[in-house]
Amino acid sequence: MSVAKKDIKKMTTHQLQEMKTRGEKISMLTAYDYSYAKIVDDAGIDVILVGDSASNVMAGHDSTLPITLEQMIYHAQSVIRAVTRSFVVVDLPFGSYQGNSTEALRSAIRIMKESGAHSVKLEGGSEVIESVKRILSAGIPVMGHLGLTPQSIYKFGTYTVRAKEEEEANKLIEDAKLLEEAGCFALVLEKIPASLAKKVAETLTIPVIGIGAGSDVDGQVLVLHDMLGVTKEFSPRFLRRYLNLYEEMKGAVGQYIADVKSVNFPNENEQY
Ligand code: KIV
Repeated sequence: MSVAKKDIKKMTTHQLQEMKTRGEKISMLTAYDYSYAKIVDDAGIDVILVGDSASNVMAGHDSTLPITLEQMIYHAQSVIRAVTRSFVVVDLPFGSYQGNSTEALRSAIRIMKESGAHSVKLEGGSEVIESVKRILSAGIPVMGHLGLTPQSIYKFGTYTVRAKEEEEANKLIEDAKLLEEAGCFALVLEKIPASLAKKVAETLTIPVIGIGAGSDVDGQVLVLHDMLGVTKEFSPRFLRRYLNLYEEMKGAVGQYIADVKSVNFPNENEQY
């Protein structure tokens, strides 16, 4: 018997917190459109991130900087139409929150109002804490993001592992505490040493979700197109590819082309 949409238990920040408390790991993946979001939600993912990695994956840019607030809202609207159970987080794109906290709040409200998403994520610690507090004061759940923060790529210059040195590691721990004290419901840690991520996850009471941050955190996130092997240029050590869809899809398209050329498609059963 199929479960009616209204009967499906939706994931909430409260449930994510309970998962951390009882030691159940949180699963999170990105999605940017209706079709992929439907598969991911149906598979039972806990959290869907409408990441600004859409800038790379969907639009072909070489950084996350170009994607606009309007484009993020479009992606979030498409994802929300597909979701019945997962908790949906949407990235505030570069330039939509760094200016001042009023602008940050305005951007977050637009995402929530125009897409129907459940929360927003933004990158940084002490530098953006006023914006974090302002957004939270409007009742919008905020997920933090520390470590490798791709919106600052031109400041750091590379996508290598962050916080390997003591000074940067200490700042990361302080920022993590600041975000928790401000009221963030969860934190993403990207590409930092596993030992540091473990320490942060043990120190904070809110869930800590890692990407390239080892297994001693409260959950994991990957970019969907990377773990499905739709993309093939990006191969960091932390990425596990569960499929090789690029080659499989290319093969299928090649077969279709051959069938069309040889008039093997359509056959008698595929016409009227
Ligand atoms: O935009 C994104 O996909 C992200 C994840 C890498 C955490 O922020």
